[in-house]
Amino acid sequence: MRDVPSCASRSLVARDAELFFHQEGSSPCLAGLAAVEGIWLEDLDGRRYVDLHGNTAHHLGYRHPRLVAALRDQLEGLTFSPRRFANENAARLAEALLRHWPGPRAKVLFATGGSDAIEIALRLALVATGRQEIIALEGSYHGHGFGALGLASARVDPRLAWTQPSRHHVTPYWAPGGAERMLEEIERILARSGGGVAALVAEPIRSNCHVPPDRLWPELRVLCTRHGVKLIFDEIPAGLGKTGRFFAFEHFGAVPDAVVLGKALGGGMLPIAAVIADARLDVAPELNLGHYTHEKNPITTRVALETIAVIEDDGLAARAARLGAYARQAVETLACHNERIRRWRGRGLLGAIELGHGIDAAAAMRACFRHGVSTVTKPGNALGFSPPLIIDESDIDLTIERIDRAVRTP
Ligand SMILES: Cc1ncc(COP(=O)(O)O)c(C=O)c1O
Repeated sequence: MRDVPSCASRSLVARDAELFFHQEGSSPCLAGLAAVEGIWLEDLDGRRYVDLHGNTAHHLGYRHPRLVAALRDQLEGLTFSPRRFANENAARLAEALLRHWPGPRAKVLFATGGSDAIEIALRLALVATGRQEIIALEGSYHGHGFGALGLASARVDPRLAWTQPSRHHVTPYWAPGGAERMLEEIERILARSGGGVAALVAEPIRSNCHVPPDRLWPELRVLCTRHGVKLIFDEIPAGLGKTGRFFAFEHFGAVPDAVVLGKALGGGMLPIAAVIADARLDVAPELNLGHYTHEKNPITTRVALETIAVIEDDGLAARAARLGAYARQAVETLACHNERIRRWRGRGLLGAIELGHGIDAAAAMRACFRHGVSTVTKPGNALGFSPPLIIDESDIDLTIERIDRAVRTP
């Protein structure tokens, strides 16, 4: 294995930089990717990396044999479904998701990405409540939707004529003293708004691995119900077992009016996202609130169906809880011997390692990459530790050993 990237790898990264618009979150690329398998990435030079990031789409690891078989099989059958036709895979996926829903009767809509699915959830809330205002957490991320609807015509349905001034941003629970401030600020907004708030949108467990106090969501659930505000949970990264429960909100016993899933729903293979929402939000059949060309694509829905089946059959949510506790213990033990490791934070396998003084997360991330671990920085001078749920104890040990060596010689 070589230390310096080969010409082939450098040349692919250079072509990529030339061809694509640059973006803060992904440019420049680190290396050319050749293969993915299980918990591993392999670059064009044959270097292998444990993938602790995977854009949180790799709950099942890569090329899971059941998904590969399901995809191959589907390619021999129905490959597209124009929207006026029902198809078995889409219906079965909806049924599979709804079997996990702990609330009153719900319905679903699918999209090809999380951002679109978030917009669907917002549209459902606006239309069902007839209100315009949305509360979100300062510094959160819910995708790149633009509320693009308003661009299409000057004659937008008045229930959807929604603009930036109708959004409120409150202190997030991950700020110091954040949970109390968040509750107070939301209470104040609701008291002043005179019934104008349609929805509160938030990640129940932040993908930056911040977990709120247990009582926060139950209290906000009561407040939202009292004010007729729809509670929308974005579980695009944290859902589908990652935190140790199928839905992250199940840790808190607060059922939202809508939850949005994405990323891992496509098995780390195909793009698909879903909104599961209280069936009482289904009030506007005269509008198109989630009308996308590929919403019920039989291939994406087949892979998502198989993904849910693997999560269920292999008990991956419980496995994430168990292995998350194992990783936490291993990191805390390491922290006693390596002062550059401070502590673990997160829930299940949605974790981060906070670094001590004398090392900066960006330098640590680059060192990890050289030691065969692909990860990202997280706020609070931390490194993401979000492996696939199929990882085992020995690969967690190996990964932590590599991180230990990397942070000692960044
Ligand atoms: C919390 C959260 N919401 C929404 C999104 C957007 O999902 P997508 O990139 O599939 O549009 C992301 C993506 O990273 C996310 O982390």
